[in-house]
Amino acid sequence: MLRLDGVHQVFHRGDVNEVHALRGLNLEVPAGQFVTVIGSNGAGKSTLFNVVAGVFAPSEGRIVLNGEDVTRTPEHRRARLIGRVFQNPLLGTAASMSIAQNLALALLRGRRRRLTPGVTPGRERQFRDLLAPLGLGLENRLDAKVALLSGGQRQALTLLMATMTQPRLLLLDEHTAALDPGTAQKILELTRALVAQQQLTTLMITHNMQQALTTGDRTLMMDGGQIVLDLSAQERASMSVQDLVDQFTQVRHAELADDELLLA
Ligand SMILES: Nc1ncnc2c1ncn2[C@@H]1O[C@H](COP(=O)(O)OP(=O)(O)O)[C@@H](O)[C@H]1O
Ligand SMILES: [Mg+2]
Repeated sequence: MLRLDGVHQVFHRGDVNEVHALRGLNLEVPAGQFVTVIGSNGAGKSTLFNVVAGVFAPSEGRIVLNGEDVTRTPEHRRARLIGRVFQNPLLGTAASMSIAQNLALALLRGRRRRLTPGVTPGRERQFRDLLAPLGLGLENRLDAKVALLSGGQRQALTLLMATMTQPRLLLLDEHTAALDPGTAQKILELTRALVAQQQLTTLMITHNMQQALTTGDRTLMMDGGQIVLDLSAQERASMSVQDLVDQFTQVRHAELADDELLLA
């Protein structure tokens, strides 16, 4: 489904600010796999998502998605294949548009945009059916402006919008990190349900190591632009967070230095 061969990303090459953000990443993710990704601040996690989504082309290496070499394919042409949710709940939705208009817009993702996304009665029914299982009452507020929603409601809507067109790949970049713990848990449950229902191939970045070990079916740990641990479902089944920290120390010959990771 997704393959990376020898992917490097260098920012500001030759400059005093040169950053080697990805250092020869090799990764193969089969269809339907749900991978959690963890790593200290600056490890290269978001850069990995950016090269996969086509925000920029990698400095070196190849990216194959759905059997097609997309290394040089522009972001907007990959958008149809990729659903993406960011940490900031304000990023995924258009605040001044209604819930129904946002959902209609999501249906057009990656296609040639019309000026106004159409909200027909048939679509309203479809949108209500999509929203009702969230249990947030949004199905009765189709005409409400998204600006009126809470962060958790917006993130739930964003998640729905990112998955409703059955993307080949779902990229979640700390999408629960900005929410209070109770809401974050609900969004995580919703994520699990949507991924399972549609058997979506998914990569989820989290800074919560416990969550990483208990969500999906594989965990990658990144450090210094490399994948330093790649744990299968069996390997991580009996692992504690302390085991994960110990394994990191063993392979890197260094302490894991990230308060956010260790305190999560
Ligand atoms: N667009 C960019 N321009 C320059 N440097 C960047 C850019 N994006 C990321 N970096 C740098 O690349 C490194 C990895 O960043 P990032 O992938 O955001 O890490 P993570 O998501 O794991 O915290 C960091 O040193 C960061 O400052
Ligand atoms: Mg990041």
